[in-house]
Amino acid sequence: MGKWSSKALATIFVTLAIAMNSITPAVAHSGLKVGFYHHSCPEVETIVYNSMVQSYKANHTVAPGVLRMAFHDCFVRGCDASVLLEGPNTERTALFNRGLHGFEAVDAAKRAVESACPGIVSAADILQFAARDSVVLAGGYGWRVPAGRRDGKVSLAEEATQMNLPAPNATVSQLIRMFGAKGLSASEMVVLSGAHTIGRAPCVTFDDRVQTSPVDPTLAPNFAASLKRQCPYPGIGSTSVNMDSTTRRFDSQYYKDIIRGRGLLTSDQGLLYDSRTKRDVHANKGSAFYRNFAQAMVAMSRIEVLTGRSGEIRRQVGEVNKY
Ligand code: HEM
Repeated sequence: MGKWSSKALATIFVTLAIAMNSITPAVAHSGLKVGFYHHSCPEVETIVYNSMVQSYKANHTVAPGVLRMAFHDCFVRGCDASVLLEGPNTERTALFNRGLHGFEAVDAAKRAVESACPGIVSAADILQFAARDSVVLAGGYGWRVPAGRRDGKVSLAEEATQMNLPAPNATVSQLIRMFGAKGLSASEMVVLSGAHTIGRAPCVTFDDRVQTSPVDPTLAPNFAASLKRQCPYPGIGSTSVNMDSTTRRFDSQYYKDIIRGRGLLTSDQGLLYDSRTKRDVHANKGSAFYRNFAQAMVAMSRIEVLTGRSGEIRRQVGEVNKY
């Protein structure tokens, strides 16, 4: 074997493998890169942040609105801004997306970016920056958003269904399967569910837990009574309820509430009663949640992205380019 012993070759091979592994997550994994606009639009993240600050000041509900929008974008055709496209039979018109809001905040951010760097930054990246900023404005940790996504040209209502998006009464097995299909682990699913630390949900999404006799036994009795009071007209109306007891603050209260039988949706409360997810509920009830959430959002933001020459850089948030 000449001057290379098999032991030396094995050492080189292992060293190379480790080196390659530590490079792949940042780039080859999805083709995305932190600082992607460093030369082409260096101020983009500041512009988006400043715009989000204005939108949040005017209406704090844009934070949960935009965070949920990023989730619904990534789970249908990947993080390609397909959820933002307007028109008949687009994702936006689907039942699961009727409650989405905060579009005007993403629109404002995109307009601000376009006036500084026309035709450079995708709506898909702006949505991910804005989701991160929403978390920061509500009190969570920020994270470095890998960028370089391109915008999709297709948006179909029929794909924004239970086929891709979880229903409020989903079982843990269904949740694990759905998140698994997007490359996310059960732990990441539990952490991402913690997004319900901010925002509100309409009564129809948990009627089946409280408007029955007996009520869902996993609900703390006084919490069930309070939900019944807040939702006097089952099945109708637009009344909404806070998703955790500190709903304007991004914190780990969501998990503390679940542990006390005060999880709002079946999908939330169920996490405590399944051996595959219970440990993660407890693991996130303290400060570890903030970092775990940031990491899981990065993982989610890589789902089925378009990069390179695929897709386009949309000029307007809600429209495919016309030329
Ligand atoms: C685990 C499965 C999940 C289910 C079953 C679920 C379901 C729901 C439902 C039914 C609502 C009420 C919204 C409405 O109908 O208007 C809601 C709200 C919300 N969801 Fe989820 N969700 C899940 C995961 C996530 C994830 C992964 C995120 C983000 C990372 C997220 C972010 C939000 C936010 C921020 C709200 C509040 C929205 C607002 O106040 O407008 N959810 N979710």
